[in-house]
Amino acid sequence: MLYSDKVMDHFMNPRNVGKLDDADGIGEVGNAKCGDIMKIYIKVDNELISDVKFQTFGCGSAIASSSMATELIKGKPVHQALELTNKAVVEALEGLPAHKIHCSVLAEEAIKCAIEDYQMKKSC
Ligand code: FES
Repeated sequence: MLYSDKVMDHFMNPRNVGKLDDADGIGEVGNAKCGDIMKIYIKVDNELISDVKFQTFGCGSAIASSSMATELIKGKPVHQALELTNKAVVEALEGLPAHKIHCSVLAEEAIKCAIEDYQMKKSC
């Protein structure tokens, strides 16, 4: 089986899909090679990620990675969310095929981007 049950579950029933109109930070990244795009919205209260949503226009692994990544940072302190690696996402998904690892990198990058956006707005 190419994909784990976890990947299939998060692809078929993705968690936290959508957008947050009152987001405190938004991160959008894309992969130039495959053309996939991922957008992450975060809401922050008392330095905790109180809500997170994603919109992913991409492959199944990118959707599963976004779903798992949002689950991993939800309710976590911002500094901890910033440390989320694509490796942690892949582990939580019980693996991805080698040629699909870049999809999990998008999730890490989009979260970092959303947090940076939040931190930049906060300091203005
Ligand atoms: Fe590009 Fe998955 S093939 S993100």
